[in-house]
Amino acid sequence: MKLIRDPGKLQPILEKERARGKTVGFVPTMGALHEGHLSLVHASNRENDVTVVSIFVNPAQFGKNEDYAKYPRVLAEDTKKLRAVKADYLFCPSVAVMYPEGYATFVDVSPRLANVLCGRFRPGHFRGVATVVAKLLNIIGPCRLYLGAKDFQQATVISQLVRDLDLPTRVRVMPTVREKDRLAMSSRNRYLSPHERRRALAISRVLFAFKRDLLREKRGGFAGLKARAIRELQKNVDRVQYFEVVEPGTLVPLKKHQKNMAVLTACFVGKTRLIDNVIIRA
Ligand code: PAJ
Repeated sequence: MKLIRDPGKLQPILEKERARGKTVGFVPTMGALHEGHLSLVHASNRENDVTVVSIFVNPAQFGKNEDYAKYPRVLAEDTKKLRAVKADYLFCPSVAVMYPEGYATFVDVSPRLANVLCGRFRPGHFRGVATVVAKLLNIIGPCRLYLGAKDFQQATVISQLVRDLDLPTRVRVMPTVREKDRLAMSSRNRYLSPHERRRALAISRVLFAFKRDLLREKRGGFAGLKARAIRELQKNVDRVQYFEVVEPGTLVPLKKHQKNMAVLTACFVGKTRLIDNVIIRA
């Protein structure tokens, strides 16, 4: 695997790969890699000749009081993991290269997608995500882009961006990878104390129980079930920021059953903000 920091070096290399008829898969990350990230690399390896992974802790997507400064940066460990799963190129640009002095262009996806759910509590977050992903896609020019369903709203925002701007890449959203006890893998799980980690298990437990109850009832409103789920979460976590049932694709909130639904939540356990979701498809 080749580690490349300079977009000007990466571009001609990938140009050559494409000219030779090779397909390129791309996995954008912020590092501190776990099996969730690596599952995206495996998917890309299966479906493409060449896999590019990026590690870039994107300042534009962190709020003022968020964890940009303390976000884990463990490049040596990450490089080892990526070599083991046979990624071909690791792209690690600097902040100065991505956002040089005078940088002035941002990508705004509609507030209907970007200012709801997580976006309501993290103003500007999806603007930062959309901007960096658009830049990375332009630098790398992949045939396929790999995203995790763990960040369901992010995958929705990026899919919309790719469609709306006619970007020549296919978006592949892969299932959430979980620990044995069903905690969704996240780079932020390492912030949790053992006691917090045990309490965090309520998130997936409540989501899966809610999904089971919804599937059992099959029709009508679910306000009662939702209120019960939120109460159960509140017994275990320190704050439930939101718990919503929405229509996948549009993120419109739902009050009644329909064929396809996504149930999303964001909770604080101690100071750590965790998100998770389950998808219900008929
Ligand atoms: P990061 O949080 O590092 O995640 C990189 C990719 O891994 C995202 O597509 C995310 O959904 C996926 N992922 C994370 N945990 C996962 C899990 N448990 N199972 C499956 N996939 C998982 O998301 C970002 O970085 C950034 O916002 C980024 C898209 C790189 C833009 O800066």
